Amino acid sequence: MRKTIRICEVGPRDGFQSIKCAIIPTEQKLEVIDRLIGAGVKHMEFTSFVSPKAIPQMADSADVTRAVLEKYPDADLFALVPNLRGAANAYALGIRKVCYVVSLSVSHNKANINRTHEQSLDAYREIRAAYPDLEIVLDLATTFGCPFEGKYDDPAQVTAFLKDYVEAGLKTVCLCDTIGIADPAQVRAVIEAVRAAYPELELAVHFHDTRGLGMVNTLTAIEAGVTEIQATLGGLGGCPFAPGASGNLATEDAVWMLNEMGFETGISFSKILAAARFEKEIIDGNYSGHHINIAEESPCRA
Ligand code: COA
Ligand code: ZN
Repeated sequence: MRKTIRICEVGPRDGFQSIKCAIIPTEQKLEVIDRLIGAGVKHMEFTSFVSPKAIPQMADSADVTRAVLEKYPDADLFALVPNLRGAANAYALGIRKVCYVVSLSVSHNKANINRTHEQSLDAYREIRAAYPDLEIVLDLATTFGCPFEGKYDDPAQVTAFLKDYVEAGLKTVCLCDTIGIADPAQVRAVIEAVRAAYPELELAVHFHDTRGLGMVNTLTAIEAGVTEIQATLGGLGGCPFAPGASGNLATEDAVWMLNEMGFETGISFSKILAAARFEKEIIDGNYSGHHINIAEESPCRA
C-alpha cells in the first residue's frame, strides 16, 4: 500500500492575499480553484474571513464561499479566520472547518491580527463554545522564527504555547514557517517535541521558500511522520504583515516529488502544472511585481 500524503492547497488564501496592486476578480479566483480541483486537489484553504481593510484581496470571501461550497460539497474546503467575527461569518455561509491563526511571536501576532496571546486564546475558546461542531485547526504562524524577533531555537517554546490550546480541545495544529526561516534540523526537533508532548495531536506543516528550503523542510516533516502538508500553486504567497515573507513551497513541485517517490497524493502532475500555467498567465499578465516562476516540464509522467 502506498502511503498517502494529504496536500492542502492554500494558494487561494495565502497566494492571492499577497497580491496588492489590484484585486483579482472573483471569477478568476474561481477558475483557478476549478483547475486545482480538476487536477485532483481535495483539501484546500480557499479564502479567509478577515478585515477587508487588512487584506483587500479577501473581500469577496462570501461570494467565493457560496460558489465553491455549492459546486464541491464533498471536498475538504476550509477558510482562515482571525477572530470570532470571522468564524461567525464563515459558519453562517455553511463552512464547518476553519484555520484559526495565531502567531507564536507576540510581535507578529500584534502586527498580523492586532491581538495579544491572551486575547487570541480567549477568542479561540469563544469560537469553540459558540460553534461546537466547527472543526478548528490552529495555524501556528512564526513557529520557527519571526520577522521581528528572529529565529527560534527552543522547541519547548512551541510545546509550552500549545498547552492551553490542547487543554481547550485542539485536535490539529499546522506548524507554519511564515517567513521561510526554518531548517530541516529545527523542523525535526520541533515535530519530535510536539509529538512527545501531545501524542494525540494531528500535525500539518506549511513552509515558505525564502531560502529555497521549502521542499527539504517539507520532506523532513514527512520523514518525521507528518502526513499533511500545505503548498501554493505556482509558489505564490506571503503574509503582508511579515516583512520579507516570500512565496510558499509550490504545489506542483511538491506533487512532482511526492508522486515520483511513490507517495499517494491523488493529484495529477500534468494537470497541476497546467493549472499553475493558467494561474501564471493571470498573475504575470495583470499584477505587476508578481512573477510566478514555474519550473518548465521535464520529460515527465502524467
Ligand atoms: N471580518 C471582516 N471584518 C472584520 C473582521 C472580520 N473577521 N473582524 C473585524 N473586522 C472589521 C471591524 O468591523 C472593523 O471595521 P471598521 O473599521 O469598518 O469598523 C475593523 O475590522 C477593525 O475591527 P477590530 O476588531 O478593531 O480589529 P483590529 O483593527 O484589531 O484588526 C483583525 C483585527 C483580525 C480584524 C485584522 O487585523 C485582520 O483582519 N487581520 C487579518 C490578517 C491576515 O489575514 N493575515 C494574513 C493571514 S496569516
Ligand atoms: Zn503562509
